[in-house]
Amino acid sequence: MNPTIAILTGGGDCPGLNAVIRGVVRAAVLQRGWRVIGIEDGFDGLVGTPRWRELDLAAVRGILPLGGTILGTSNRGNPFAYPVRKGGETVLRDVSAEVVANFRALGATTLIAVGGDGTLKIARRLGELGLDIVAVPKTIDNDLQGTDVTFGYNSAVGVVSEALDRLHSTAESHHRVMIVEVMGRDAGWIALEAGISGSADVILLPEIPFSLDAVCAAIAGRRERGNRFSILVVAEGAHPAEGGKVVRLSAGENLGVERLGGIGQALAAELGARLDMENRVVVLGHVQRGGSPTPFDRILGSRFGVKAVQLVEQGKFGRMVALAGRQVDSVPIAAAVEALNLVDPAGDLCRTAEELGICLGR
Ligand code: F6P
Repeated sequence: MNPTIAILTGGGDCPGLNAVIRGVVRAAVLQRGWRVIGIEDGFDGLVGTPRWRELDLAAVRGILPLGGTILGTSNRGNPFAYPVRKGGETVLRDVSAEVVANFRALGATTLIAVGGDGTLKIARRLGELGLDIVAVPKTIDNDLQGTDVTFGYNSAVGVVSEALDRLHSTAESHHRVMIVEVMGRDAGWIALEAGISGSADVILLPEIPFSLDAVCAAIAGRRERGNRFSILVVAEGAHPAEGGKVVRLSAGENLGVERLGGIGQALAAELGARLDMENRVVVLGHVQRGGSPTPFDRILGSRFGVKAVQLVEQGKFGRMVALAGRQVDSVPIAAAVEALNLVDPAGDLCRTAEELGICLGR
């Protein structure tokens, strides 16, 4: 009997999700004559009355260049800790049995879960409950182990890099320090690669707790060399050696999930007090996740979608598609979520940045 694939996109959206969905549908429906259904809004769509739609060829026509996900997503719908309102309060309930029952009632045989760290951890647990699952790694943060890169990351780096190009002229005209706060959670990949690409002067990463003295010395040194402006890129998870991360919403306030943000403003206050230079803060925020995917992410998303269908055909469940060098391969989902993929402070990229004269805050 042919498989029926259910596909869902979970966690924060990112460019390239639609390329994956289209890749899955074209490989499964067009090439193999299988059925594909799309679950709406991540695992949320399998709680209560299922929300889903048929994904035939017409449903994915023209979606390759589109940002976001045609299926919708949610980063609040963990079936093992699902928020429900009870007596005026929000409590967390385990609704995983309901999710499994709904999945089976739809006639689906295999789940393709497209998501980041959180979604993949849920997928792994659902696999332990008996679902046949294939995972596809998505996140602008590039913080997943097991794959050389996640799709969405290249697009986000492109957005930040372009923003840095644009900020140079205004920073230079006004002789200011521009502090650009970027996403990435606990990983500094976006800050580091976009900072190198966008010719930043200072890049602060979560992986290298920074010294304010070093940052001030770098900016002052530039001024002494005649550069009356500086561009500073700070990852949202970066923090001083003697302080903690700046949190916008604590896990307690936000259903178990911490939201980072605010380090840019905190730095501006410190630098304003220490340097005789005006500064401005730019928080790029969700702009980094929006818009059309780059060609790299369209290709990677398409390759991941096709590979996911090949894994279903081979009965290789519990695995995540992955890029290894130039090859798309697969690894156990468990291996991908054991630890985060973080920037190596002693690695080649950091060394390159410092050889270029970029201050990494140490
Ligand atoms: O994981 C992707 C990401 O964009 C992080 O870089 C960021 O910290 C977080 O999601 C923001 O989440 P939300 O969309 O819930 O504000």
